[in-house]
Amino acid sequence: MSWVGGKKALREAVVKRFPLNYSRYIEVFGGGGWVLFHKPPRRDFEVYNDFNGLLANLYRCVRDKPDLLINALEYVLNSREDFDRIRRALDTRRPATDIQRAAWFYQIIRHSYASGLKSFGSQPHDMWANFPLIQQAHRRLKDVVVENQDFARLIHHYDREDSLFYCDPPYHSTEGYYQNIGEGGFTEKDHIRLRDALLDIDGKFLLSYNDDAFVRDLYNAPGIQIEAVTRLNNIKQRYDPNCQFSEVFIANYDMDERGLYLPRQINLFD
Ligand SMILES: C[S@@+](CC[C@H](N)C(=O)[O-])C[C@H]1O[C@@H](n2cnc3c(N)ncnc32)[C@H](O)[C@@H]1O
Repeated sequence: MSWVGGKKALREAVVKRFPLNYSRYIEVFGGGGWVLFHKPPRRDFEVYNDFNGLLANLYRCVRDKPDLLINALEYVLNSREDFDRIRRALDTRRPATDIQRAAWFYQIIRHSYASGLKSFGSQPHDMWANFPLIQQAHRRLKDVVVENQDFARLIHHYDREDSLFYCDPPYHSTEGYYQNIGEGGFTEKDHIRLRDALLDIDGKFLLSYNDDAFVRDLYNAPGIQIEAVTRLNNIKQRYDPNCQFSEVFIANYDMDERGLYLPRQINLFD
């Protein structure tokens, strides 16, 4: 599903940069789960995490009780009145069952403008078309551990030599987009805390960020690879068809271990 900062467009590029060997996969800033759902299931132990408790609850309900969630969504109305009422219920933490909260939150994601959770989208939406997706996600999440922790605790908890942490934090200078229901916000201090946690691990990490001087400076350290990538800017494309958005991948291992994406020099001896 759409999610602010979702990595739909980058998911293949991310998976290609995974190292060859790891047996624990931890998605630290899970969001809409674009990378986890794109990653082929292997025999590795997988963890999805997000600090947004409503999101973690939604994924737990999808994993454990998909039929009850679908039942709760069957006859919801796509209306401004319902949208505002449910938003208020979530904002004020009105007591509700886990399934009810998951259904409310899913409804808000699906019926909000650009899935931004804030305002009613005023667009037709076929809720029933999502039910096969919920069942598919349920099967994919079957053996996935769903966590709801701050990144520093999570990284500390799951760090081993054979761990791979994929981190997709709120981008630097866009943190305001995340001050939303269920979320606590992200500040400059958090970017520094994340760097300190990652530079201290025994396992491997792959990080995606916007390309800016603050981020490059933060990870300017021995043994750290920084690779710039660009993609078409979805938002500005309407006005400027060639507008590019610059991002970086940062890792503490060789991102081309799989030999999948860097152009190779042809020689007579390969
Ligand atoms: C850029 S989004 C991740 C998008 C995701 N990769 C996807 O493809 O949908 C960043 C996520 O970090 C989460 N987040 C914010 N602060 C956090 C924290 N302190 N610890 C863990 N997750 C946090 C937000 O709730 C948000 O879902």
